[in-house]
Amino acid sequence: MARDFKKGVIERFSCVLPVTDKTPVITLQEGSTPLIEASNIKKELGVNFRIFLKYEGMNPTGSFKDRGMTVAVSKAVEKGAHAVICASTGNTSASAAAYAVKAGIKCMVVIPEGSIALGKLSQALIHGASVVAVKGNFDRCLELVREICESYKVELVNSLNPFRIEGQKTASYEIAEALGRSPDYQFMPVGNAGNITAYWKGYCELKESRGYAPPRMMGFQAAGSAPIVEGKKVEDPQTVATAIKIGNPASWQQAVEARDSSGGVIDRVTDEEIIKSWRQLAAKEGVFVEPASAASLAGLRKYLELGKMDPAFTGDVVLILTGHGLKDPDIAVETVSRPPVVEADIEEVVRTAGIE
Ligand code: F0G
Repeated sequence: MARDFKKGVIERFSCVLPVTDKTPVITLQEGSTPLIEASNIKKELGVNFRIFLKYEGMNPTGSFKDRGMTVAVSKAVEKGAHAVICASTGNTSASAAAYAVKAGIKCMVVIPEGSIALGKLSQALIHGASVVAVKGNFDRCLELVREICESYKVELVNSLNPFRIEGQKTASYEIAEALGRSPDYQFMPVGNAGNITAYWKGYCELKESRGYAPPRMMGFQAAGSAPIVEGKKVEDPQTVATAIKIGNPASWQQAVEARDSSGGVIDRVTDEEIIKSWRQLAAKEGVFVEPASAASLAGLRKYLELGKMDPAFTGDVVLILTGHGLKDPDIAVETVSRPPVVEADIEEVVRTAGIE
C-alpha cells in the first residue's frame, strides 16, 4: 500500500477493516505517522540494532487513539447512534470529542478528577464534549460508563469496543510497510492494554497474509500502576504518567496472550526511569512526547541494563511513542528550569544566551 497523506486509516486500510461501502467515513486524516530512526540514542546506548520511533503524537488529536476512534465513530454513525461515551485518562476523551464533532453527534466523557493532563482536558472541552469529573480513579470511571451503556442509548468508544482495536492495528501495518517486514522487538507502554492487543492483532494478520515474523511484544507499565506485572488489581494506582495510571486493565487477558504468544514481556519501569527517557527523547532526538510514551524507551534501557537484550544483536527495534509532549505542559514546566529574564539589551541577551 502506498503512503497516502490525504487519506485516513479507513480509506488506506479498508481491505483489512470491518467497513463496507455503506460505512460513513468520519476522518481527520489520522495515521501515516512518522517512523523516525533514533540514530543519536542508538549511539548513546552503544547498540548495533536499529531503533525506530513510531511517533503517534503526530495524529490529529495528538495521540494514537485517533486510529481506533475513526473506525469506532464511523461504525457508531453507521448504526444510527447519536451519542458516544468513554471513560478516559485523557487521550481517549480528546479523540472521542473531536471525532464526535466531525460526525455531528454528542460526546460524553467521564474522567478521574485531578488526574488528567491539562492539554487533554482542554481538548475535550474545546470540542464541546460533556465532561464529568468523578471522585474516583480511571477504573471506577470505566465501570460507570459500562453500566451506563447497558441502560442508555450511547455507544461505548473505549477500547472494549472492537472497532477501536481494529483501527489501532493499522499502526502495525504502517510499521511493516516502512521496514518491509515486522520489527524484531516492539517496546510500548501498557495502560488499559487495548493498544498492545491491537498491535498484536495487526502483526498476527501480517504473519498470515505476508509471512512476516511478528516481533516480541515488550509492554511496560508504570511501577506504581503495574497490575499485570503483579498479577493482581492495583486499588490506588500511582504514577507521573497519568495516561497509564490504571489499576485494572480492560484488556488484561489479551495483553497476556500477546506477551506469551510473541515471547515478549510485560514489565514495569519507575517514574524516575520514565522521566529520564522522556528527557532523552527530547534532548537527543528532537521528539517531544508525553511521559507515558517514554515507558517504551525506559523499557528498552532497562532490558539493556539488565543484560536481557544483547547490544550486539542486529535487527530492528520499534518504540511506540503514543502521545505528544504538548498534552502535558505541567510536567514539562515543572521539570525543566525556567529561562533567565534580562533587560532588552543586546549585550545582555548575547552574553546570557551564550552566543560567541
Ligand atoms: N500512552 C498514552 C499516551 C495513552 O493515552 C494510553 C492510554 C496508553 C499509552 C496506554 O494504552 O490503554 O491501550 O494500554 N490512554 C487511555 C485514555 C487509557 O483514556 O486515554 P492502552
